[in-house]
Amino acid sequence: MAWLIIDRSLKKPLIRQIYQQLRTKILNGELTAGYRLPSTRQLAEELEVSRNVVLEAYDQLLAEGFLEGHQGAGTFVAAGAYLKRTEMNTPFIVENNSPKKNDNIIDFRSGIPALDLFPRKQWGNLAKRVSIETDHSLFGYDSPEGRIELRTVLSDYLLRTRGVECHPDQLVITTGATQALTLIAKLLISANDKVIIEDPITHEIQTIFQSYGASLLPISVDENGMDTNQIPHEIKPAFIFVTPSHQFPIGGTLPIQRRIQLIEYAREGESFIVEDDYDSEFRYEGPSISSLQGLDPNRTIYIGTFSKILSPALRLGYIILPPALIERGRTLKYFSDLHTPSLEQLTLALFIKEGHLEKHIFRMKKIYRKRRDFLKEQLYYQFGDTVKIHGDSTGLHLVAEFDGIHFTESLLSRINNNGVKVYPVELHTINKGLYSNYIILGFGNLDEDKIAEGVTKIKRVLLNK
Ligand SMILES: Cc1ncc(COP(=O)(O)O)c(C=O)c1O
Repeated sequence: MAWLIIDRSLKKPLIRQIYQQLRTKILNGELTAGYRLPSTRQLAEELEVSRNVVLEAYDQLLAEGFLEGHQGAGTFVAAGAYLKRTEMNTPFIVENNSPKKNDNIIDFRSGIPALDLFPRKQWGNLAKRVSIETDHSLFGYDSPEGRIELRTVLSDYLLRTRGVECHPDQLVITTGATQALTLIAKLLISANDKVIIEDPITHEIQTIFQSYGASLLPISVDENGMDTNQIPHEIKPAFIFVTPSHQFPIGGTLPIQRRIQLIEYAREGESFIVEDDYDSEFRYEGPSISSLQGLDPNRTIYIGTFSKILSPALRLGYIILPPALIERGRTLKYFSDLHTPSLEQLTLALFIKEGHLEKHIFRMKKIYRKRRDFLKEQLYYQFGDTVKIHGDSTGLHLVAEFDGIHFTESLLSRINNNGVKVYPVELHTINKGLYSNYIILGFGNLDEDKIAEGVTKIKRVLLNK
């Protein structure tokens, strides 16, 4: 059988090579039913492999029904093993459209914490303890709402630090805030429902809500977050989505008057407010702002995440549901992925209970404040009063507004070609065109050298535009 090719330079075992080539030839009809294959000895000699190799390949094909052996008469291609080709059968290559990673690029992506400062040792020790010391039932399926140990410490932590009022039973531990957003969409959106939402707001969030049939009703933001006076009273939205502690991306903090206005609006229309509290732990100016949820826990759905305070790789977040939505929320979570991984949940519960989380946040806040101050200094040093900075009182990013510059695709790609990645606010706008001179600069994962180099390179490109 000269048409079988053995390639010894491949890592693929010889048995597998013979098996796969024969299988393909049978499936596509090159070898038809009743065809008599050479004896194992003959084929082994032809291919210069040991007889056992051929025997095992034949055995596998016999076991799967591609071949049949007649005692003493040899080995034959079985009937019914030909599969007509359709376009589906032709091999296809998936184009890899995910952005290529370039480790040398200075990436001002927002919302990335300092990855090199993740508390590996403490986390590792706790993860080891959880893995070794916990009851073996931990390795089975668990409940959709998440581990009670985590929900209990989390509700205490949230009351202490964020003024969030919740019973542990109101919490559902999710795979990041992103899953919480999906669950909310499934819970509350029916086709063509209106969702009142800040504009701009993360484009992923817009896409999630739209993919469940919502039509977005954008309300513009100012330095104080959503401009609540613009909310129309004649409609009944599925919910109102806000980032009140640190509007994403512009950065305003919603004042109490606007918060009350939102609550009254939700009460009046019997709708819900969805509060995404994604990075408020890092507040640099003034005291920490209490949550909107604390003002009316029955009208507010609160979302939190550990992506910014610890690491996005953990994929741990949570949702606090008003009592009326708990049962359905748990059921939806169950049908999404049964539950969030239990080992990580227990590790996090210990991490919070033993005080590591608050210590980590305290330490990181000092580091991020320094990075933020340094980035502001560099921007003012390079651009003077042609740059205005917004939303820098909280979180891991700020927004820079440049006089007379429009961050077009071509300008952004020139900046990129010079080794720096910046993100236009326009990427996140619903009504286009108002923020073309604004960019988002995340500083959480950049040290001072990188920040200085990045801002210098942006300046170089903008000067030559
Ligand atoms: C406003 C906002 N909400 C939610 C998320 C999602 O976070 P997670 O990593 O927890 O899914 C992000 C991510 O950056 C965000 O910017």
